[in-house]
Amino acid sequence: MTQFQERRTFAIISHPDAGKTTLTEKLLLFGGAIHLAGQVKARGQARRARSDWMKIEQQRGISVTSSVMTFEREGVTFNLLDTPGHEDFSEDTYRTLTAVDSAVMVIDAARGIEAQTRKLFEVCRLRSVPIITFINKVDREGRQPFELLDEIADVLALDVAPMTWPAGMGGQFEGIYDLRDHRLLQPTGGSREYGGKVAQLSGLDDPKLAELLSADALARLQEETELAEIGYAPFDEEAYRNGDLTPVYFGSALKQFGVDSLIRSLAAFAPPPRPQPAEPEPVEPSRDEVTGFVFKVQANMDPNHRDRIAFMRLCSGTFKRGMKLTPTGHGKPISVHSPILFFAQDRELAEEAYPGDIIGIPNHGTLRVGDTMSEKAQVRFTGLPNFAPEILRRVALKDPTKTKQLRKALDDMAEEGVTQVFYPEIGANLVIGVVGQLQLEVLISRLEAEYKVAAGLEMAPFETARWISGDPARLKEFVEINRSAMAKDRDGNPVFMAKSAWEVGYVAERYPDITFAATRER
Ligand code: G4P
Repeated sequence: MTQFQERRTFAIISHPDAGKTTLTEKLLLFGGAIHLAGQVKARGQARRARSDWMKIEQQRGISVTSSVMTFEREGVTFNLLDTPGHEDFSEDTYRTLTAVDSAVMVIDAARGIEAQTRKLFEVCRLRSVPIITFINKVDREGRQPFELLDEIADVLALDVAPMTWPAGMGGQFEGIYDLRDHRLLQPTGGSREYGGKVAQLSGLDDPKLAELLSADALARLQEETELAEIGYAPFDEEAYRNGDLTPVYFGSALKQFGVDSLIRSLAAFAPPPRPQPAEPEPVEPSRDEVTGFVFKVQANMDPNHRDRIAFMRLCSGTFKRGMKLTPTGHGKPISVHSPILFFAQDRELAEEAYPGDIIGIPNHGTLRVGDTMSEKAQVRFTGLPNFAPEILRRVALKDPTKTKQLRKALDDMAEEGVTQVFYPEIGANLVIGVVGQLQLEVLISRLEAEYKVAAGLEMAPFETARWISGDPARLKEFVEINRSAMAKDRDGNPVFMAKSAWEVGYVAERYPDITFAATRER
């Protein structure tokens, strides 16, 4: 089975407002996955598939449409995974990036590299996820192309290879020149959008260019591209795939410039599903056995339903509807009778899924983030950690009779990866841990809205936590001495809560035979 070779599973990373939503929309539009009003395809089969899918959404009161967006073009299937768009770094985002094979980095031409882009980039680098760069909003006044390219190269320590070049920007914008295909894409009409006006040229010295561009724009384009050729690395596919070089496309998502080049670039260069890190050995996509891992669990938007959708990335094998898969470590096989497959355009295809595809598995809370699913339950995917929380808070109940509901709610949210919950050895108040402030707000509002539990958060005397392991005798001694700072996590693992990062360093030095881990893999 080689269908997986034609899969491109990717995410868009960007700082809020750079244009991720606009670009996503345009990618789907160009990929034919969404249609302009009045153009909705009336093919019987397509309609049936879509209504099935909507029924699942309605029954479960959950919106899954935007988490994974699949579109097909020229025989290639693209799975675009959405990363949450707020400024707080979240574990959810990290885990979504573990499920992709490549990423598109969107940069606002007026702003360059911003804080969130940089953080997300670092996550991609950790896993050597190759990146295509899209410099957006060239229709607006922005920074000069050289300045932007140099910033990417310097700040991210990456080689940059410009693939297209803007003929002017902002008010002077006259089009985008494709440096490899030698095509010039130009705006038309009052809206100055790209409406298909394209000229095939023999190169930058083609005399036809003088008819298409103003003298100023042409002179500038020729001069800049000549300098660019000397100053930047040529595109090298291997360097890109290793995460050492990024091809750069200039464009305007709003005016539809560069979107087509981006899709072609993903099809031509972005890697198909890669082998995934696992124990006892990495899993090749060509393996026969169906394997995958859960990278996200989404709870119900409707408080009357307790269902959840676990998003599983398929890593190997051909998944078929109704198949039995076993979560490693939990034992019991699950029949996946009503998987949500995100390429709902074609019923026949929707019965099967291939490596790189994402499957939504409805369940009642059995499946958790980090779970490995497979036919034989003999592998375990690695690299999906929980992070040591940076903020710890005690949860204080306003109504003491609601203890059970609170526990259930916190357990549920821990499962989804919204927060972590710790059960202190001493005292009755549960402690929750998060990586970013925003997660605290989400927690409190969901407790009230979904679980009808009124609770407040109090400062805890701790700031961070570490999972501890090591020699049993020393561990026992440590736990006894530090009982007031000890807790158990959801799985019963011992956790040391520290007043500061400094304290972690201090105790770690005194107990060299105990490991104080800042991440934990299930
Ligand atoms: P995000 O998801 O990354 O947060 O960004 P989003 O697409 O929502 O875009 C942020 C703003 O930038 C939007 O304007 C959007 O219209 C604009 N934008 C996106 N791409 C381009 C582009 O290529 N050129 C120009 N000129 N603008 C672009 P807004 O005013 O905040 O929202 P709206 O009222 O236009 O929806």
